[in-house]
Amino acid sequence: MSTSTVVIGAQWGDEGKGKVTDVMAEKVSAVARFSGGPNAGHTLSINGRKAVLHLLPSALFRPDVLKLVGPGVVSDPEVLSEELQLAEELDVLHTVHLDVHAPIILPIHRELDKARESLSGKGAIGTTQRGIGPCYEDFVARRGPSLQNLRSAKALKQAMLDRRFYDERSLLVQLAGIKPSTVDQMVEWCMERAKNIVPALVDTREVISRLRERGDSLLFEGAQGIMLDVFNGTRPYCTSSICGPAAISASLGVHSFDRVIGVSKAYTTRVGNGPFPTELTGQAGHWLRKKGNEYGATTGRDRRTGWLDLPALRYACRMGGITDLIITKLDILTDIEKIRVAVAYSTPLAEIGPHRTLDTELLERVEPVYQDMDGWQGDLKNCSSIKDLPSNAKKFLWKIEEQTGLPIIGVSVGPDREDMVWKE
Ligand code: IMP
Repeated sequence: MSTSTVVIGAQWGDEGKGKVTDVMAEKVSAVARFSGGPNAGHTLSINGRKAVLHLLPSALFRPDVLKLVGPGVVSDPEVLSEELQLAEELDVLHTVHLDVHAPIILPIHRELDKARESLSGKGAIGTTQRGIGPCYEDFVARRGPSLQNLRSAKALKQAMLDRRFYDERSLLVQLAGIKPSTVDQMVEWCMERAKNIVPALVDTREVISRLRERGDSLLFEGAQGIMLDVFNGTRPYCTSSICGPAAISASLGVHSFDRVIGVSKAYTTRVGNGPFPTELTGQAGHWLRKKGNEYGATTGRDRRTGWLDLPALRYACRMGGITDLIITKLDILTDIEKIRVAVAYSTPLAEIGPHRTLDTELLERVEPVYQDMDGWQGDLKNCSSIKDLPSNAKKFLWKIEEQTGLPIIGVSVGPDREDMVWKE
């Protein structure tokens, strides 16, 4: 029987979804990316070889698995072309399929993203400047080219002119004092990369429907995390897409899932601006960043670091429909004498019940209520299942289960595929 499993981020992105997806992909026929774009940086470490993927699914190193990029993924031809080249080197190109309807991120989208950020001063979002927001704006405005337009330079050019796409976009870029790319430059830029991309184009909704009819099992790989979701995240300090399973329903026609796996680090990180109640600033934050190697996989920026925020995780689980948890980077907390976890928020202004939406306005003024937990020592990679972990590490995991009401099915204890311990 066909099963559908979802892997999504339960924090502010960078939870380690890439690794989890690669591991879970062993048991499925196809893995599909369904939202976000090259703002994502999914890091894989396989037999000591490291790869960071921005658009293609994290099953790239699995030759028997189909890799699909759905119509909800905003796609930069340059990034696609590079990753397709990597697929060719790995001899898996024939297993990669891109949706004909995926919107194209053009140079003008990146120019606009950069211009807005640089002119926003304190109001800047801290975007990845990859043109994600402007491209989604055009998608919703029902204009701008999609990957199928790469089949013909004429159609591509027309898609840049239709519904005042270029007129309006170029005006905005000029307003910011930047010279916009011209239509002809962008057509040429796209067509140089089209040669790689066009042979991989398919109707991914059709592929998924056929696979399900055949009884094949599918895995859907999320990007970013629920706290960055355009509806439920910390607006405006969030991304421009839906980060939960609703994006799969909306764009790929799959509406029920056997499991929605939420991935959370054993602590918290966030890149870009916006509230972060459990943030560690100063030396402590710097120390955790270094120990956890918390530098952006896409932009190289320092990630902000802090303790695990269980009220935020609980909220993300609710909004993302998460049924199971995988905790990553537990090994980074090894050898810390006292580990803190936020179990509640207090604020002098309001009583926060368990059903409140954790929006920016609220998260900016809450004070975390911490519980201190005893740490553990030893190499966690020697453990073959969760029950073999040091008892204080298990107490830490039980605290997460108790506070979220969800089972932890797996724990990542190192970067490699093999560095996982499972419940059974
Ligand atoms: P954008 O998605 O580039 O528009 O950026 C909006 C916000 O989401 C910024 O705070 C980014 O740092 C953050 N963001 C976007 N993608 C990721 C990701 O893959 N990991 C972590 N943060 C991300």
